[in-house]
Amino acid sequence: MKRPLHVVVLGGTSGMGRAVARALAQRGDRVFLLGIDEPELEKSAADLSVRGKAPVRWARCDLLEPSGFAPALERAHAELGGFDTVVVTAALFAGQDDLERDRKLAERLLTADFTNTVLFCEEAKERLLARGGGTLCVFSSVAGERGRKPVGIYGAAKAGLTRYLEALDHKHHAKGLRVVTVKPGFVKTAMTAHLPPPPFAGEPDDVASLVVGAIDLGLPVVYAPLAWGPIMAVIRGLPRFVMRRVGF
Ligand SMILES: NC(=O)c1ccc[n+]([C@@H]2O[C@H](COP(=O)([O-])OP(=O)(O)OC[C@H]3O[C@@H](n4cnc5c(N)ncnc54)[C@H](OP(=O)(O)O)[C@@H]3O)[C@@H](O)[C@H]2O)c1
Repeated sequence: MKRPLHVVVLGGTSGMGRAVARALAQRGDRVFLLGIDEPELEKSAADLSVRGKAPVRWARCDLLEPSGFAPALERAHAELGGFDTVVVTAALFAGQDDLERDRKLAERLLTADFTNTVLFCEEAKERLLARGGGTLCVFSSVAGERGRKPVGIYGAAKAGLTRYLEALDHKHHAKGLRVVTVKPGFVKTAMTAHLPPPPFAGEPDDVASLVVGAIDLGLPVVYAPLAWGPIMAVIRGLPRFVMRRVGF
């Protein structure tokens, strides 16, 4: 029988992070939650404790406060007796018009979704490598694949994150680090609740099954739902004049 994973999840109180944490706990993996909303962390941990085989604990970790990353991971290490897998789904989202209007909001989003996510991954990576490797699974986005009008700033943060994760994979694969980059298309969560769902909109539980499979296999990239893989292959190949004409 497979040894249970010891997993730290940053963002497990909502959307795809919650679905991934549930899928892992339900099959017997040990989970530790990181996030910002303490009552929600307590509620989510209680829910996972009932679904899983071991009590789930949590610690506060704010993507906008990088000084808290190391202590939060140390707490996770102590509570889990070491961890072999780190999942990062936490991020901010805002529409392009709002981000262009509000420079402070743009700064917060760029800091959380790029700079501080990278810094969190650096802390996590160090600890995984110190134990001989493990899995770092991070949610980027299809929005990072091309520059598009509605997601210019958010997409730029995710593009940078995707490139960083690719390089991390190249640099540390031989040392046993498996970097899994998840590129969701549109998935129905709190983040997208205010937007009309397009065709191929996904559900968090379906994404979670794909992500858990990718963690088990150590796949470097997973599009979720899967349909976004071929869709993005076409979009990546579109010449710029075509993108301009169709109003991307
Ligand atoms: N949904 C989509 O269509 C879609 C598409 C492409 C990529 N993605 C990416 O997929 C990932 C998961 O998205 P989702 O749709 O599941 O989003 P979600 O339901 O909004 O969940 C986002 C999570 O991030 C946490 N978070 C927000 N600010 C934080 C901070 N400063 N520090 C720590 N945690 C913070 C939230 O905690 P609180 O709830 O307590 O605020 C929540 O747990 C994100 O990286 C997102 O960019 C989503």
